[in-house]
Amino acid sequence: MDLEGSVQDPEDKEYSSVCVGREDDIKKSERMTAVVHDREVVIFYHRGEYHAMDIRCYHSGGPLHLGEIEDFDGRPCIVCPWHKYKITLATGEGLYQSKNPKDPSAKPKWCSKGIKQRIHRVTVDNGNIYVTLSKEPFKCDSDFYATGDFKVIRSSS
Ligand code: FES
Repeated sequence: MDLEGSVQDPEDKEYSSVCVGREDDIKKSERMTAVVHDREVVIFYHRGEYHAMDIRCYHSGGPLHLGEIEDFDGRPCIVCPWHKYKITLATGEGLYQSKNPKDPSAKPKWCSKGIKQRIHRVTVDNGNIYVTLSKEPFKCDSDFYATGDFKVIRSSS
């Protein structure tokens, strides 16, 4: 029998949206950090769109909120300040350039390592920014630095 809606799953609370600030403020600063249900995230405002992701880089936990945004292969990416890994803002994919060893003179091609950084959902309501944590069930490399003993960055904004 379907008892849908009769009892709220306590886990759902962890995935409820959290207000992290005002739209006016992030439009000026173009980025902000927040703690959402004990998970640190960075929110970027880039070319009219919002993107939220785990704050610590999937590679070794670098502080992505201190990185620069650049386009690679036409895709806006945050460049981690520690070892310059490129992560797409829209999908959290790690990008790298590959060369064809059989044709060293050919231009290197941009390739994807797949989704490495967990992306969270941003919504705007009445001038407020809300973040909803990703519930995607796959294991994402950035989870390692977003949970447990390794989440050491503390948001100051
Ligand atoms: Fe980000 Fe190494 S920690 S590139």
